[in-house]
Amino acid sequence: MTLIDRDRAVVWHPFTQAATALPPLPVVSASGSWLHLADGTRVFDAISSWWTCLIGHSHPQLVAAIASQAARLDHVIFAGCTHPSAVELAEQLVARAPAGLTRVFYSDDGSTAVEVALKMAVQFHAQSGQPQRTRFLALEAGYHGDTFGAMSVGDPADFAGPFAPLLWPVSRIPVPVVNGDPLRADVDMTAALAALDLLLAKKGDSIAALIVEPLVQGAGGMRMHTPAFLQAVSARVRAHGGLVIADEVMTGFGRTGALFASTHGGLQPDLLCLAKGLTGGTLPLSATLATDAIFAAFLGPDARRALLHGHSFTANPIACAVALASLRVGEDESLLERAAALHAFYASFLPQLQALDGVRAVRWLGGIGVVELHGGGYHDAQKSQQVRDACLRDGVLIRPLGPVIYTMPPLGSRLADVERAWQVIATALECHT
Ligand SMILES: Cc1ncc(COP(=O)(O)O)c(C=O)c1O
Repeated sequence: MTLIDRDRAVVWHPFTQAATALPPLPVVSASGSWLHLADGTRVFDAISSWWTCLIGHSHPQLVAAIASQAARLDHVIFAGCTHPSAVELAEQLVARAPAGLTRVFYSDDGSTAVEVALKMAVQFHAQSGQPQRTRFLALEAGYHGDTFGAMSVGDPADFAGPFAPLLWPVSRIPVPVVNGDPLRADVDMTAALAALDLLLAKKGDSIAALIVEPLVQGAGGMRMHTPAFLQAVSARVRAHGGLVIADEVMTGFGRTGALFASTHGGLQPDLLCLAKGLTGGTLPLSATLATDAIFAAFLGPDARRALLHGHSFTANPIACAVALASLRVGEDESLLERAAALHAFYASFLPQLQALDGVRAVRWLGGIGVVELHGGGYHDAQKSQQVRDACLRDGVLIRPLGPVIYTMPPLGSRLADVERAWQVIATALECHT
């Protein structure tokens, strides 16, 4: 039996309709930006394996950090114990994060980082004399993960259908989406801000927090907005006593050309969610960063005033050690400059695709380059699937979000490889749109 046959007999894959999906790619090893398949061929990982692989696969310094930490301390309970890698990583994250974020709470993945932030926001208000603040504000087409709280604040349209009756009521703000380069765009925000003002006038006193994916809404279709919009929305929510949660699970660690997308807009969030690229994409680990004021609200003689939340593998030492190594390598290998080079490439290449019949819009920011096609919903956009299949035949792995085709390669990729990937995508677009 082949690996694929054995897989099909026992494995249930995420976000996959097993009845119709193509056979999974049998990946036996990876290095740099390349996945090596069982038949000896290789595929360019143009989406960084679900946006996790920050620098490149199996980077020797990251592999060494994992091995050496595993041999020293594999795991230890993180309630009542601590260890050097968790403490040093917290120090390093606080030193790099937007100003004011001084406390690091570890969990396992992007969804749990978001759950923790949501719980912190509600409990903060409850313990600060405002227990009525339990409502969340979110952006239309947002995505924050697949646990129930994260699904609630995400837009239910494409992902949470059967669970909709179980999700909390959330107020959603329209987003003035921009194409091209969002850092240069100037867009009329009047309607979106008027909708927000109306909402705040009615419900401002009940708002716990606004949650946003700063500048790029990932799973919702790599939708981009301007720093000015981010600033304006955050300022309004704060003026009504709400907190601001920046979900940088996707945008963190240089993907948008700044270490954190929040800083493009000068946003200083009250809570910051990090995952994916935190470990360079090697192991699951996430972090929710909070301000002093939030941390202080959980202090007191009553044990129930604490944040009663934790996971078995909270602050796993191996994951923390490789996260530290990833931060070091990211700086040594100038990832932000590499993101700037990708941004410049997209700016020179993507506008010409706009001329193709099937293309609705192009946009780019840092290491993220996007072509949005006309037509098709999230689950039935056939043209983008044809483009995906054609790219795979030519050695490039993409995973369209409905009609949205994009690349977000490991930031350590050779520019020539990214350029080739886009030649392949462009050819496929010409044939299939
Ligand atoms: C912005 C954002 N938040 C949260 C998540 C959930 O992360 P995870 O899949 O690690 O649970 C994702 C995943 O894509 C994301 O893009």
